[in-house]
Amino acid sequence: MENLTLNDVLKQSARHKQGIEFPLVNLLANLAWTFGDLTSRHTSYVSHGYHRYPAKFIPQLTRKVIEQYSEEGALICDPFMGSGTTVLEALLAKRKVIGTDINPVAVLITQAKLRPFPPKYLQEQTSALLRDMKNQIAEEVHQQLPLTLNSARVDYLLPENERLVYWYPIKEIRQELAIILAHINKLADIHLKRYFQCAFSHILKNTSIWLNKSTKPTRDLKKSVPAPLKSFTRHVRKMNNRNRKLYFLMDPLIHERLDEYARVANGDARRQQSAENMVDLVVTSPPYVTSYEYADLHQLTALWFSYTESVS
Ligand SMILES: C[S@@+](CC[C@H](N)C(=O)[O-])C[C@H]1O[C@@H](n2cnc3c(N)ncnc32)[C@H](O)[C@@H]1O
Repeated sequence: MENLTLNDVLKQSARHKQGIEFPLVNLLANLAWTFGDLTSRHTSYVSHGYHRYPAKFIPQLTRKVIEQYSEEGALICDPFMGSGTTVLEALLAKRKVIGTDINPVAVLITQAKLRPFPPKYLQEQTSALLRDMKNQIAEEVHQQLPLTLNSARVDYLLPENERLVYWYPIKEIRQELAIILAHINKLADIHLKRYFQCAFSHILKNTSIWLNKSTKPTRDLKKSVPAPLKSFTRHVRKMNNRNRKLYFLMDPLIHERLDEYARVANGDARRQQSAENMVDLVVTSPPYVTSYEYADLHQLTALWFSYTESVS
């Protein structure tokens, strides 16, 4: 047996593939870093379950790295933060954190998941919002209620993009989604607006004719699409339960000073600088250029939020 560096092992494994033998290597797996016993219930705990994202970190792994390699109050950085797993875990571990991502959908998800609301406030806001959406959809899309001078009614616009009909061929579905989004966008509380925008973004896939369980943008012309308001309501209820857990889990002092503890921005990692020009620890998982087409995967959100005119 001999002790080898990782580099030696990689070189030897290349030689092995060419049919060249190599000696037994003294590299033992450290089971403390194994997370195989976790289920999706664990990995999507609190707000980690707000929105799907490709190649998400296991939060427990991120937390272990943060706790092992930094002290409380340290500044952590994730330049490819994706859905903000590092950002949230850093806050829960009482660290400060800077996160960036080039994808605006990632920024929206991260901003939504790092900020818990007082549960009662969120419940009241949710009830009012869902009631107003429901009334307007019943009146204008399904004509189930006579048109009233409903003061909660909002003007809505469908994004001008031919891809909208491609993914949402049923007119009533498009209208219903547009009404939901218009009500969210009218909210005065910016944090609440982002929270509901995140919920809206999450339901865009199952309310479109995107093939279920496919990560590739494939249409399923036979798909039976659920009513958007039903999907939205169901998902918001799940998020509200997760919010409650997060609210009681986060240190109240950090909650009060969230803007100081977490700085999240839409940007290119290659040009990122922290104000201090240094951080204590970088915890990141860089993009896999060949595995995932992030723009493809998030094109429905990009479409509804007009993040980009052309997916290409
Ligand atoms: C593997 S994912 C990170 C997932 C993340 N760890 C999580 O838990 O959700 C890589 C991320 O890199 C982002 N990305 C790709 N190129 C970038 C760049 N030049 N600057 C910043 N972010 C970039 C992608 O948008 C994607 O969100």
